[in-house]
Amino acid sequence: MVAQPTDLHDADTQDAAAAAACPVDHTAFTGAGTGDSAHHGYEPFDMTDPFPAYERLRTEEPVMYDERIGYWVVTRWADVRAVFDDWETFSSENAQAPVRERGAEATRIMKEGGFTAYSGLSARIPPDHTRIRAIAQRAFTPRRFKALEPTIRENTRTALQRMLESPDRQGDVLHDIAFDIPTITILTLLGVDPAMVPTYKRWSDSRGAMTWGDLSDEQQVPHAHNLVEYWQECQRLVVEAHQRGGDSLIADLVEAQGAGAEITDHEIASLCYSLLFAGHETTTTLIANSIRVLLSHREAWEAIVADPSRIPSAIDEVLRYSGSIVAWRRKALRDAEIGGVKIPEGAGILLVMGSANRDEEVFAHPEVFDIARTDARNHMSFGYGIHYCLGNMLAKLQDRIVLEETAAAVPSLRLTGEPIAFGENLSFRAPTSVPVTWEA
Ligand code: HEM
Repeated sequence: MVAQPTDLHDADTQDAAAAAACPVDHTAFTGAGTGDSAHHGYEPFDMTDPFPAYERLRTEEPVMYDERIGYWVVTRWADVRAVFDDWETFSSENAQAPVRERGAEATRIMKEGGFTAYSGLSARIPPDHTRIRAIAQRAFTPRRFKALEPTIRENTRTALQRMLESPDRQGDVLHDIAFDIPTITILTLLGVDPAMVPTYKRWSDSRGAMTWGDLSDEQQVPHAHNLVEYWQECQRLVVEAHQRGGDSLIADLVEAQGAGAEITDHEIASLCYSLLFAGHETTTTLIANSIRVLLSHREAWEAIVADPSRIPSAIDEVLRYSGSIVAWRRKALRDAEIGGVKIPEGAGILLVMGSANRDEEVFAHPEVFDIARTDARNHMSFGYGIHYCLGNMLAKLQDRIVLEETAAAVPSLRLTGEPIAFGENLSFRAPTSVPVTWEA
């Protein structure tokens, strides 16, 4: 008897369940198992259910050149880890480069708008990366995060209450809870008025689409305007911190600069540009995914309702099983080898952490969601090595608070069963809604 997920619309599991139940040989269409399919069923931008293709890649061609995107796709845990670890050979300088070339009109708009933003940290390389990260890290104090905890809890309770007022007991975890909470948190941290949430969400959507999306030249145009506005706002925030100081991460960086830290205003504005994106998009997805995956494995949801001390390990398992970022980029600075495959100097590499996190060489029964797993923390959803995510504790803190509050307030929460879609993207695997209902 094959264990069935409780919700067949959970895209993380539906294919496994469907494959177990369906008499049709799907491998006939994908070429899976034969090794003759061009890409083993891998579709770089399709985030609906990439896991069966990842599994085939790990088995059949763990280091595969994909000419459609111009990247070497790396899918085994050990290879992904080795590339992350060797920053001298594999640089992160392409991590934020547009996947699709920027069109002429978008380029003109951005140039005329004075858009000169550069990655705050993730695409910087040593020695600049080392210098800026050390300064930024000092501003990321546990004291700052701790101070935010009551506000995060309060915001969660307000959002939950509003959702639970729905007369027909219909909600959407993504829009009703997961959208606002991390955005308010990062805006508060950076000293921005939380009333700006919708504006920052609009700018962030543009940032995600322009860098990791598959947009035509024409589709890029409105996003180019948004990025110009977004960058102008980051620069204004730095000027304001110089003039007024205040209790924010930007003010801390400006103060550090005044005290002799080697960081320019442009670098501080670039950090804002990065944090105002990295600081919420992925956490929104983590919160939405946590509730989605736990509800679709009812026994896990009931376990955290009965014993909230299990929430931290449940979060690690969600990050392993359904991470917010499933792929991240690197560039070979010299001729190299990955998993025995020769990689030429200058080649782009796509590290598929979403696949590494399900590598059967590392995780027993990797396709099973199990919050009792003791090695879930070996996931690579926050990257690894010198660029390891600076905000991982803040992301987990917020997710823990949301899960604690939600499990306590509405233990009867469940998915409605409507299919859940995921936006097209090379790196970010984010549901577009998580419809839920609950008992009266
Ligand atoms: C679930 C939530 C999050 C996920 C999945 C995530 C994932 C990642 C990943 C994959 C990287 C690249 C690591 C590498 O190249 O090795 C990264 C870097 C980074 N993240 Fe996060 N992140 C999350 C939340 C946050 C938050 C809340 C913040 C800030 C408040 C943040 C700030 C950063 C920064 C600044 C870097 C660049 C670090 C460096 O290059 O030195 N992240 N994150």
